[in-house]
Amino acid sequence: MDQQTFVKLLNDDLSSEYQSIIQYIQHGATITGPQFLAVGEEIKRHLPQELNHAKILAEQVSFLGGTPTAEVSSIQPVTGPEEALRTDLQLESEQLDRYRERVVQAHELGLADVAEALRPLLEQTQEHVRDLQTALGR
Ligand SMILES: [Fe+2]
Ligand SMILES: [Fe+2]
Repeated sequence: MDQQTFVKLLNDDLSSEYQSIIQYIQHGATITGPQFLAVGEEIKRHLPQELNHAKILAEQVSFLGGTPTAEVSSIQPVTGPEEALRTDLQLESEQLDRYRERVVQAHELGLADVAEALRPLLEQTQEHVRDLQTALGR
């Protein structure tokens, strides 16, 4: 893989993080009711971390000579708290796979600094997957 392709993938990751930010804002405000109190708080805790993920990705794209995208991955409407949580879990799981690949690719390209910058995204995304699995009783 060349660096240009890698930058394109990082920009796709960035679009996906924009999607997370919007979904968590929307879902955080719609997942209400006593049985979802803890889950709602959890989601609100994820939000600033997603903002930071987007910021880090944009910085890496820029560092590698690219232009950070402003494109948001498409967002499907959800009808209730369960579906919102399932949608969030699916997105976080996809992102986890993406970051696992991206860290390996960064090393393959000799971009140790980039791999290091992506490490917290990988770790926090792993936590988010676990949080959502717990919230869904999995
Ligand atoms: Fe994220
Ligand atoms: Fe996340």
